[in-house]
Amino acid sequence: MSRIEEALKKAAQQRKQSREEQTDSAVAAVPQTPVPASLKRKVSALLDVVPLKLNHLMLATARDEKTAVVEEYNKLRSTLIALTSGEKPLNTIMVTSTVSEEGKTMTALNLAISLAKEHDHTVLLVDADLRRPSIHRYLDIQPEVGLVHCLRDNLPIEQALIKTGVGKLVVLPAGEAIKEPVDLLSSGRMKAIVKELKQRYPDRYVIFDTPPALPFADAGVLAGMVDTTLFVVREGKAKLDDLVETLEEFKRHHLLGVVYNDAHSFVNRQSYYYGNY
Ligand SMILES: Nc1ncnc2c1ncn2[C@@H]1O[C@H](COP(=O)(O)OP(=O)(O)OP(=O)(O)O)[C@@H](O)[C@H]1O
Ligand SMILES: [Mg+2]
Repeated sequence: MSRIEEALKKAAQQRKQSREEQTDSAVAAVPQTPVPASLKRKVSALLDVVPLKLNHLMLATARDEKTAVVEEYNKLRSTLIALTSGEKPLNTIMVTSTVSEEGKTMTALNLAISLAKEHDHTVLLVDADLRRPSIHRYLDIQPEVGLVHCLRDNLPIEQALIKTGVGKLVVLPAGEAIKEPVDLLSSGRMKAIVKELKQRYPDRYVIFDTPPALPFADAGVLAGMVDTTLFVVREGKAKLDDLVETLEEFKRHHLLGVVYNDAHSFVNRQSYYYGNY
């Protein structure tokens, strides 16, 4: 049994146990319990956080420059649009990788910005890395509510969304980091949220940033809920065996393609423009 299968099996066992312990699992598609008053206060404070500055050096697509890096992200955007358009659009897309620090969040952010700048459609970027959320860090914001509160405290999603000021790019931050997010991510409520986002806005892209596939079950669980997965491989990061094992696992669901990040060997042969990219 592969490590991902083991992680998924362990997560399933934990879920079963937690269902037995608390008969009331979080399966409601519609919030049923009142949102705590403390959260409501935070939400009203949050509405002022627009537009964002987007100053992070790595957010190349946010600046009005025509660099090789921006070109690469635009090419990625065009390929993605071509691969996801069709009779049954694949508009819920998860970004993951084998191990940590391969560039998942940067890819998700730059892709979302590139899509939002080019199209008149809403792009929703969801920070589903509840273990180590970082989208808010790269955007230099401190949201007090997010996906965690939508899942755990039944906060309506629209109350946790942040407009970025870049086209129609909207961010659903994680809200807070939690140690064991698998139960929340695999809950019926998460399924309902993903389904609702897909069906309510069929013409918009919903991009989920996730933790690495090894050793956590989170990405594997989410892959079963979204339409497709974009896999990031950073040169020299994951061991080849681990990469092959993980990719095989994700091929069981819909795998859109692989983004080869920080590709020095390729770049050195092709062009000096890319620098560290
Ligand atoms: N192509 C690149 N060139 C240079 N630095 C990069 C590149 N891609 C990512 N980085 C840097 O690597 C670090 C990790 O990037 P990022 O947060 O996107 O990775 P991640 O896969 O989301 O990590 P984690 O698994 O911790 O969530 C960041 O400091 C980012 O700026
Ligand atoms: Mg990340």
